[in-house]
Amino acid sequence: MSGAKNAVLPILAATLLSDEPSVIENAPQVSDVALMCDILRELGAKVIQAGEEITVHPDGCRGTRAPYELVSRMRASICVLGPLLAKQHRAEVSMPGGCVIGPRPIDLHVKGLQCLGASYAIEHGYMVWQAPRLAGARVHLGGAYGSSVLATDNVLMAAALAEGITTIEHAACEPEVVDLADCLSAMGARITGQGTPVIHVEGVRQLHGVRYRIISDRIEAGTLLIAAAMVGGDVTLEGARADHLEALIDKLAEASVRVEQTPGALRVRATQPTQAADITTLPFPGFPTDLQAQMMALMSISRGVSVLTEKVYPERFMHISELNRMGAHITREGASAIVKGVSHLSGAPVTAPDLRASAALVLAGMAAESQTEVSGLEHLDRGYQHLDHQLRLLGARIHRTHRKE
Ligand code: EPZ
Repeated sequence: MSGAKNAVLPILAATLLSDEPSVIENAPQVSDVALMCDILRELGAKVIQAGEEITVHPDGCRGTRAPYELVSRMRASICVLGPLLAKQHRAEVSMPGGCVIGPRPIDLHVKGLQCLGASYAIEHGYMVWQAPRLAGARVHLGGAYGSSVLATDNVLMAAALAEGITTIEHAACEPEVVDLADCLSAMGARITGQGTPVIHVEGVRQLHGVRYRIISDRIEAGTLLIAAAMVGGDVTLEGARADHLEALIDKLAEASVRVEQTPGALRVRATQPTQAADITTLPFPGFPTDLQAQMMALMSISRGVSVLTEKVYPERFMHISELNRMGAHITREGASAIVKGVSHLSGAPVTAPDLRASAALVLAGMAAESQTEVSGLEHLDRGYQHLDHQLRLLGARIHRTHRKE
C-alpha cells in the first residue's frame, strides 16, 4: 500500500513548526503531495522530494503567504495556517474555494484558531491572520456535520507551540489525525488523547526535526477491497490495516464479501454475487465518505436495492450520472442515492468529476462488459499513486492511453 495522502499533507505542513530539517518517509507520489511541497517552497522552505522520501529544511521559511494560484487547487493547503501562526505569528491564506463535492466551509478552523488567540481580516480574497501570542484554550470543534479533520489538524499544530494547555473537544478521530499527532509528539509536542474525541495538548517552547514514516492509505486499501468485491477473486493487500477499515469490512460482510486480517495484511475473498447493503457515511469510525463513490459502484451491480446516505458531504454524488451512463439504476433523493442493482454494467466513455468518483468509475469499467474509457485522470492522480498498475497486477485489463505528464 502507498502512504496516506491525507496524513502526509498536514504532516508536511507540521515540519514548519521546527527550525530543524525533517524527513518524511512513505509519502505517496501523487500530485496533491507535490502541490503541498510547492506551497512549502513558496513559504521559503527548501524541500527535496526523492521518491517516497521528502526532506524539508524549514529554517529558511520566513514567508507567510499561501498564494491563491496554489490554494485554489487544493483545499488541504489551509493546513499551513496552524504552523504559520505558531511559528511566524502571521499567515495570509487565500480563502479556499468550494469544489464539486460541495461547499467547503472553514468556520471550525476560524473558531479553533480564534480560541487560541489568533484574529483575521479578509483582504482581497485572502484571510490575513495575526497571532502575536497563542495561548492554550478549550476548543469545541463540533459542527453541523460532526468534527473537522483539517480543523482539528490546524488547532493541534497551533496548540503544540501555544502557551499552556489546549483541550480539543469533539476532535476528529480519523487515523490521519492520529498520525499527525504522533508525528508532532515525535517532534517533542506533548499530546494525549489522539484518536478519541478529546485531545489534550500542552504547549512547548520549540519542536525538533523528525524522521517520520506515514501510515498506509486506508482509502487506497478500501478502494482495492471494493475492486475485488466487484469482480470476484482472492486478494491480499500488504500493509493494509483492519483497524482503519472496520466500517467497510462490516459492510462488505453484509454484502457477502469476507475480509480477514492476516499478519500485516488484509485478505479479501469474493466468491459469490454480492448483496445490496445500506450505507451512511459518518466521521471516523463510521463509514468513510471517501469510499462512498466506490461503494456505490459495487452496489450498482449487487443484488437488491441499497440506499447510500451522505452525512458528511450531502452533495457528493457527481458520480451518479456517469454510473447511470454505464447502465446503473441510481436515483438521487436529497442526501441519499437509491441504487437498484443490475446484472452488469456496460462499458462507455465517462468523465471523472472528482478524485474518489474517478476511482469509482475505474472500478465500474473494470467490472463492465466491453470497454470503458475514463477521462479526467488528473483527478485520479491527485490521490492514487498507481491504481491502474495495482489493478493490472490483480488481473484487470486496464491501461492509460495518455501518459501522465
Ligand atoms: C478531510 O477533508 C479529507 N481531506 C477529505 O478527503 C475527507 O473527505 C474529509 O476530511 C472527511 O473525512 C484531507 O484530509 C486532505 P472536514 P476536510 O473538515 O478536513 C464540514 C479526499 O478525497 N466542515 O473533516 O476538509 C465540511 O463541509 C478528500 O481525499 C464545516 O462545517 O473535511 C464537511 O461537511 C475529500 N466547517 C464536514 O465538516 C469547517 O470549518 C467534514 O469536513 C470544516 C468542515
